[in-house]
Amino acid sequence: MLSKKSLLDIESLDLEDIKLILSNTDSFLEISKREVKKVPTLRGKTVFNLFFEVSTRTKTSFEIAAKRLSADIINFSAANSSIKKGESVVDTLKTILSMKVDLIVIRHSDSGTARMIDGFVNVPVINAGDGKHQHPTQALLDLYTIKKRFGDFKGLKVAIVGDFIDSRVARSDISLFEKMGMDITIVSPAMFLPEDFSELKVRYQIDDVIEDCDILYMLRMQFERQDRKFYPSIMEYKRFLGLDMGRLKRMRPGSIVMHPGPVNRGVEISDEVMDVGGKLAERIVIEEQVTYGLAVRMAILYLILG
Ligand code: NCD
Repeated sequence: MLSKKSLLDIESLDLEDIKLILSNTDSFLEISKREVKKVPTLRGKTVFNLFFEVSTRTKTSFEIAAKRLSADIINFSAANSSIKKGESVVDTLKTILSMKVDLIVIRHSDSGTARMIDGFVNVPVINAGDGKHQHPTQALLDLYTIKKRFGDFKGLKVAIVGDFIDSRVARSDISLFEKMGMDITIVSPAMFLPEDFSELKVRYQIDDVIEDCDILYMLRMQFERQDRKFYPSIMEYKRFLGLDMGRLKRMRPGSIVMHPGPVNRGVEISDEVMDVGGKLAERIVIEEQVTYGLAVRMAILYLILG
């Protein structure tokens, strides 16, 4: 079992929790390869998928994870709910809790919502992304993907590229990768750097790291959260921070490219790289992240509810 009732951020996970999640993921990964992809582990439990923000992979990933463990899962989208009729989040939650759910997965566009809700309910809460704050299950699936490729973490060189100020994925990844002893470089123009990143190694162009990293982590441009003028233009962004074929070819043998999805094709990563075939395609692990994400979420549901 995990040391805390809920999974709200990476900071509150200790090393034992992280190891437990990684080792349990191995066995849950195996279930998805079977003919009958289902085990009775969480039969009789009800998971509530409470999404106030759009999502494809995270929402479906939690849904499939719960179903493969035989839990019942209810999907809630704010856009189709009484929230539209003016009901508050807290009243919506009270309604849900009266129906005796066992766990709440929540995504919300405001930072801190998951923790606020956790203080209010007596069932476990999993943060599936809150504003610009945290996305712990993304970081854990990223870590598992790295484990599958490299075996160990210590000393691995990871360059994280893009918009830091608006990215919950960056915040969760950095704190998890640091805990595991990885060597992190941030690649970002100053306008995308929050003040609290000053302790980290910073570079301003992707060319400064491309030949020297094991992991190139491309963040998604958070267009929906940016309330300022875009870095001077998309053309400039691609020129200094985008991944194109020339740069992909310059990466070290054995190195990998990650992205949390959804990719803005032609912004963070070119079409050509996204569709590359042959040997070079082995470097792009974006689909592996999704596959492993499902198993990681099965492991987390099991460790919280099992
Ligand atoms: C991320 C998210 O929504 O935070 N996507 C995801 O969960 N797979 C990353 C992003 O949208 O930038």
